[in-house]
Amino acid sequence: MTHDLSVRAVDARELMDDPDADIGMLERTYERFRLVNALVSHPGRLYRRDVRPRARRGPIRILDIGAGGGDVSRMIAARLRRDGLSAEITALDADERAIRWASDRDGGAGVTYRCAFAADLVAEGQEYDVVFSNHVLHHLTAPELHGLLRDSAALVREGGAVVHRDIARGRVAYALYGAVTWLLGGTLFRGSFIREDGLISIRRSYTTEELADAVPTGWSVRFGLPSRLELRWDARTARP
Ligand SMILES: C[S@@+](CC[C@H](N)C(=O)[O-])C[C@H]1O[C@@H](n2cnc3c(N)ncnc32)[C@H](O)[C@@H]1O
Repeated sequence: MTHDLSVRAVDARELMDDPDADIGMLERTYERFRLVNALVSHPGRLYRRDVRPRARRGPIRILDIGAGGGDVSRMIAARLRRDGLSAEITALDADERAIRWASDRDGGAGVTYRCAFAADLVAEGQEYDVVFSNHVLHHLTAPELHGLLRDSAALVREGGAVVHRDIARGRVAYALYGAVTWLLGGTLFRGSFIREDGLISIRRSYTTEELADAVPTGWSVRFGLPSRLELRWDARTARP
């Protein structure tokens, strides 16, 4: 089936967002996010640019919004430990199924898993040095996106960074993801939503221009390879 990638498929729903989704498929999807993130998300860049320089000045607080299986948070915890640095990391998700799965697999990483919205943390007066999300923006409606940006900017301390990372919509990304997940659909990605939801995610995602138009002032959008968007708020240069 061919899809029109010239506009965002805002009405397409990811299978993992269905409250009645098959729990085995959903858990296999959380498990496989680690591989997908290792291949496309480059979490090491977030660590090197935003986390490590701040952690070198002293212990920091990090918030991962929409953490899903929590693998990015656990990867950051492992790198900090390797570099002799420390941080308090909170992996937040609005879906209790994700939090249950991730907290059962912390494996000594020391991440705190919480089922909540960023707005709940704002109400508690929490503050962080690094606030980030990965593959969350495209899930959100326009009011939810604005709420997430408002809350994440409110949660960052002076000198901190907010970085929301996501897929960029495009024909090449769609074709490549389709080909790779078709090849691995019978093995590594079997019994998960990785292929279907990934393709829907790309259709729901923004282009660089669309995201730049959708966000308030103070946010900057950058395109990166392979087909990535980075939306950044820097508390050093702007306030909400
Ligand atoms: C595609 S998954 C990405 C998971 C993880 N960040 C990763 O990169 O593997 C998106 C996650 O965002 C969560 N989510 C969606 N909207 C959210 C919101 N407003 N606040 C917190 N979590 C949210 C969903 O429950 C889901 O677990």
